[in-house]
Amino acid sequence: MTVPVGGANISDMKAVTIPRLGGPEVLTVAELPPREPGPGEVRIRVRAATVNPTDLGLRAGGRPTALPFPYIPGMEAAGTIDAIGPGVAGRRIDEPVMAIVLPMRPEGGAQQELVVVPNDAVAPIPDGWSYVEAATLPMNGLTVRRAFDLMGLPPGAILGVTGAAGAVGGYAIQMGKEEGYRLVADARMEDVQLIQELGADVVVERGPAVGSHIRSAVSEGVDGLLDAAVQGSEVLSALRDGGQVAAVRLWNGRTERGITIHQVAVTQYAANRRALEDLGRLAAAGRITPRVAATFAPEDAAEAHRRLEAGGVRGRLVIVFSH
Ligand SMILES: NC(=O)c1ccc[n+]([C@@H]2O[C@H](COP(=O)([O-])OP(=O)(O)OC[C@H]3O[C@@H](n4cnc5c(N)ncnc54)[C@H](OP(=O)(O)O)[C@@H]3O)[C@@H](O)[C@H]2O)c1
Repeated sequence: MTVPVGGANISDMKAVTIPRLGGPEVLTVAELPPREPGPGEVRIRVRAATVNPTDLGLRAGGRPTALPFPYIPGMEAAGTIDAIGPGVAGRRIDEPVMAIVLPMRPEGGAQQELVVVPNDAVAPIPDGWSYVEAATLPMNGLTVRRAFDLMGLPPGAILGVTGAAGAVGGYAIQMGKEEGYRLVADARMEDVQLIQELGADVVVERGPAVGSHIRSAVSEGVDGLLDAAVQGSEVLSALRDGGQVAAVRLWNGRTERGITIHQVAVTQYAANRRALEDLGRLAAAGRITPRVAATFAPEDAAEAHRRLEAGGVRGRLVIVFSH
């Protein structure tokens, strides 16, 4: 459904909007006026924007905010530079770029045809990657980078990964190999080959007992663990005394044996251009591989939400804007 929202520039651009909290059916394509980039900002003509678990939370009310409706979901996009704000150097119109986007702001997130972002949230699209593929990298890649930086594990350390078949987990394996870690990752039976191909050294059975499965495989315990499956204290038994956990959702509070819990918030790397450019270089070198499950028109965003909510998606779901 397409409904007009806003003022005089009613047909200026399409956006996937959340006009009220609810199920996937509330998602509506609206036409909204774009804004000009301010100092230090660029505007991107979005070709592709991903659907992430956080979008489901924004839609369902799990991300309390004082922002007025409609919200625009989406935390990462790829497209071309459409306008350049004052004081921005080194960008050109039509340059292919990818960006991390913060939806909790009045102009909303990535799922709109023209999105304004800080120039520091932007990097060139990796050579050889399409817009759809490049859109899958910024937010989850930066999440893993942030997690690694918080844990600060040395090369040779053993890193556990839960939710390894997901976007964060998959990048954690590939980026962890680059850091020189030994990777112990979880999988259900049908994903074992995928997780091995991503580069895991050891694959264990996923589920509530994942901590003890990892501990059986690594008797001394892992040095760090990225809990992308959000299992909380279920993972603690995997860790050695004094180990470190990177939690991607609010941790449930308990820890033990001197294990440090790091709360990861990718928003802290939302203007880390150097980290985003580094991800792009890893991707261009084939060290990170794109995983796209399906693409959707903006009008079919509800279907993307239903699929993600149902679980079992392997690779990212991507909304494609045709200009
Ligand atoms: N803090 C931050 O800044 C930040 C940034 C990015 C992401 N995140 C969060 O990180 C998490 C992972 O994101 P993602 O994009 O990687 O999600 P994803 O692609 O959906 O992957 C999650 C993976 O975890 C698995 N899983 C879920 N629950 C599980 C359980 N109880 N036991 C074992 N495996 C389980 C899923 O398997 P099935 O598909 O089979 O269910 C899937 O393979 C999400 O909660 C997301 O919101 C946080």
